Amino acid sequence: MERVTEPELMVDDDQAIAYSEADFTESHQGAVTRFGAAFPEFAGGRMLDLACGPADVTVRFARAYPDTHIVGLEGSPAMLALGVQRVAREGCAGQISLQHRLLPDPELATLGAFDAVVSTAALHHFHDPAVLWDAIRIAASPGACIFVQDLMRPESAAIAQALVDQHARGEPDVLRRDFFHSLCAAFTTDEVRAQLAAAGLDALDVQPITDRHLVIQGRAG
Ligand SMILES: C[S@@+](CC[C@H](N)C(=O)[O-])C[C@H]1O[C@@H](n2cnc3c(N)ncnc32)[C@H](O)[C@@H]1O
Repeated sequence: MERVTEPELMVDDDQAIAYSEADFTESHQGAVTRFGAAFPEFAGGRMLDLACGPADVTVRFARAYPDTHIVGLEGSPAMLALGVQRVAREGCAGQISLQHRLLPDPELATLGAFDAVVSTAALHHFHDPAVLWDAIRIAASPGACIFVQDLMRPESAAIAQALVDQHARGEPDVLRRDFFHSLCAAFTTDEVRAQLAAAGLDALDVQPITDRHLVIQGRAG
């Protein structure tokens, strides 16, 4: 199936609330666990979470790495507001700062260099995926831990619908609709490898990890 893009930003209040309230424990906590397995020596430092949405993953990273300060960037005001609420509610305001930034952001380098750059469930939103890879290259210090987890496009719309039925049964319609569109907007592992080669990030490893997720990880050059 050819890629079908979806709107980059998740700006609708209903959409943002449904996403924020959904239980993504398996994939979100799984991202933190996989990061830890990939970078067992990472103990703390400055972490950047690109397109952090309502900051559930950001908070999970903060809990796992209490000596880390995390900057989360998000382009949707609706998502950012939910993220700010979650960070305050979870008592993480001293460890996480969230900022409204739309990528590509010409001012990104002013944030300084980061020891780790993560992004989850966001690559497929970028109409031009080079925007995310450029942001990672700009923000990562030499040797930084890079970890990107995203959906992976299935071979057909029918398989995408079957994945929605299997993994989002009983979820609100808006969430099921977004999940289907996101699967259709996602990339294959071969496409991601080509993106990384074009971005000069081909030292990163790309692997499928579930029937619908892939992970890109490695050290910045
Ligand atoms: C599916 S959400 C994932 C949020 C979060 N990372 C997570 O794993 O729960 C994708 C997010 O990317 C944001 N986004 C998409 N394109 C963006 C851009 N160009 N700049 C900043 N944020 C963007 C959307 O607004 C949305 O909040």
